[in-house]
Amino acid sequence: MAYSTFGTSAAGSRTTPPHGEEDPYRYQLGFGNYFSTEAVPDALPEPGRNVPQKCPYDLYSEQLNGTPFVSYRDTLQHVWMYRIRPAVAHARPRQMAPNPDIEACFSKQNPNVHFTPLTHEWGPLEYPEEHEQVTFIQGLKTIGGWGDPTYKEGLAMHLYSCNASMGKQAFCNNDGDFLILPQVGRLDIQTELGHLMVKPGELCVIQAGIRWRVSLPDGPSRGYVQEIFGSHYELPDLGVIGSNGLAHPRDFEYPVASFDMDQSNWEVVCKVTGDFYSYKQNHTPFDVVAWHGSYVPFKYHMEKFVPLACAAKEQCDPTIYTVLIAKSKTPRVSLSEFAVYTAKHITALDTYRPPYYHRNMSTEMLGMIYGEYHGSVRDVQEGCLSCENPYMPHGDAYKAWKEATTAELKTEVVGRDALSFMFHINNHFGLTKFALERNPSTKSIPGYEGEFWDDLQGHFMDHLEEINGKLAAAGLPKLGEKPV
Ligand SMILES: [Fe+2]
Repeated sequence: MAYSTFGTSAAGSRTTPPHGEEDPYRYQLGFGNYFSTEAVPDALPEPGRNVPQKCPYDLYSEQLNGTPFVSYRDTLQHVWMYRIRPAVAHARPRQMAPNPDIEACFSKQNPNVHFTPLTHEWGPLEYPEEHEQVTFIQGLKTIGGWGDPTYKEGLAMHLYSCNASMGKQAFCNNDGDFLILPQVGRLDIQTELGHLMVKPGELCVIQAGIRWRVSLPDGPSRGYVQEIFGSHYELPDLGVIGSNGLAHPRDFEYPVASFDMDQSNWEVVCKVTGDFYSYKQNHTPFDVVAWHGSYVPFKYHMEKFVPLACAAKEQCDPTIYTVLIAKSKTPRVSLSEFAVYTAKHITALDTYRPPYYHRNMSTEMLGMIYGEYHGSVRDVQEGCLSCENPYMPHGDAYKAWKEATTAELKTEVVGRDALSFMFHINNHFGLTKFALERNPSTKSIPGYEGEFWDDLQGHFMDHLEEINGKLAAAGLPKLGEKPV
């Protein structure tokens, strides 16, 4: 029989009260904090001790390191767990049947991956048929990525669609960290370090090596996942912005210790370079009575983001909306930036307000959680994901350009009741066969492949008389005439 309790945090860590019916759990606050929490009083060892000869209540001590032993202190992440049984108490892992819709290694040598300059759009994924039982893990579909978890560099983008809770099965991703964005349906996530209830509009990060499972309190669910290899999500530096703005550290919520006493049969599924292994054990993996550390899953409501793009003139790059970044192995270069577009004032005067025409070295992946997209005239549906590949030119349609260059520029609020997001991915992006061939929702963006811009006019030629007058006044030949 399972027994659980929702823990309180040890002295020094304030916890939130439960959010209510939508979210019955309590949280500790503060991005990147070093937390201490115990579900039973005095379950943590005395301060100054991680591995006493005998832990309180005969718990086992176990450390999980999320970074190499030798790392700069500001990057070190680890957690000490005090649990009923150590995680090692399980049977031998067995390889499972491969999932052809999951990919982890993105190179030209992989026949399942294709690099293309084309723009694509996917989704929303259809829900599984009612007679199928598809869990969050079974419902993951890899759209693409770059790099390889064995190099500890790169990332993958997935969509998910599921209709079944995981039951007595846990998942452990040995490849990288998941950033999960539910678009429909809450995810009730139990981790070794406690519970998180994540609803559409919130993001959740679960780091590599942590065991967790997903239940679906609202029935069928779908959404987005970015998986990063060899890096962890961080808050971006604020630079000249100063000490406030963007995502505030105190708005990030971390679980409190919670444990079950359950000695029935469980299965744990691991993902290793995109392959799946499973092992059985005769007790729950969620038996951590107390823990302290910094390597902890968290969630954040993206409507708490503080956009700073109100300006007198000009426009900022979209990175001004960055919530989280993941660093690459190249110093001072990010692997990916995650930006959100929430309601905001547009105040900039004497400028062109839609995104300017541009070509970037980054791949841009745009998704829509809810509401009406306001970034361009493109119709971006809730649950869709689109991909602009590096160096491919894009921008708004001619009609939008005409309107934007003649519109009266008043202060206005855009994006009310809407939440969209963008991943900048600073590399080529390989698409999977699922994304290109098997996904029934794969499509070229309607009217976006060529003909979207076919009617763009070169209005420079409307000014030839004026230009030639100026050239003549400067003693220069007219346009179209050879110099004498
Ligand atoms: Fe763009």
